[in-house]
Amino acid sequence: MVRRNPHSLALLSSARALDMLPFVMTILIGTNRPGSTTSKVAAQVSELYHALNHPPKLLDLAQLPPEIFDPASYDAKPRSFTPFAEAVLKSSGLVIVLPEYNGSMPGVLKYFIDMLKFPESFERKPVCFIGLSAGMWGALRAVEHLQLIFGYRNAYLFPEHVFLPKIHELLDESGRLKDTAIVQRLRNQAAGFIEFIEAMKTTKTNPPA
Ligand SMILES: Cc1cc2nc3c(=O)[nH]c(=O)nc-3n(C[C@H](O)[C@H](O)[C@H](O)COP(=O)(O)O)c2cc1C
Repeated sequence: MVRRNPHSLALLSSARALDMLPFVMTILIGTNRPGSTTSKVAAQVSELYHALNHPPKLLDLAQLPPEIFDPASYDAKPRSFTPFAEAVLKSSGLVIVLPEYNGSMPGVLKYFIDMLKFPESFERKPVCFIGLSAGMWGALRAVEHLQLIFGYRNAYLFPEHVFLPKIHELLDESGRLKDTAIVQRLRNQAAGFIEFIEAMKTTKTNPPA
């Protein structure tokens, strides 16, 4: 018999409680750089989820309240941060669109994660990744670094990633992805992620004995 720790049982029951809530897909824009390419790609990904009848919420790190960057926030979160923390907690699944900065994720994305409620924010949370970069690696390392963090936090990692290298060549003058094969890859990822979330719900209600 496996002994369960009461703490993980509490997390499990809160995960079950979340299953009662309506399905909420959340897309996180993983940078706060004004006018970022990431926000443009995220907007197009949002359209794909709309078309699949799962209209997502967009969570934009460029909208973070400045008070959250006060070092006192490690102890007490400003009230203005509550909508961000709650949006993550209440999401059925999190799609993270992130750029490559210095061979990794943007510092603000890691800081955002550090500001969220621990440990419940990512416990058994389905997470999906889209990486993009100016260079040839398409944020491969950035996504891998992020996977380590989400693995540590017991998230469910959707295995189909999309990497978008040389992003500026992939966008048209209005900032939209112009290659239909790439858009189709993102559409397939979105459809697969929706199925993944449904499948993971069953896992939540039937944990290993
Ligand atoms: C601080 C910073 C660091 C960056 N580091 C890299 C990098 O390591 N590799 C790369 O291919 N592109 C790098 N870039 C370029 C971004 O990948 C590029 O700006 C792309 O458009 C995605 O970022 P954005 O969403 O901020 O526009 C960097 C950009 C910034 C602002």
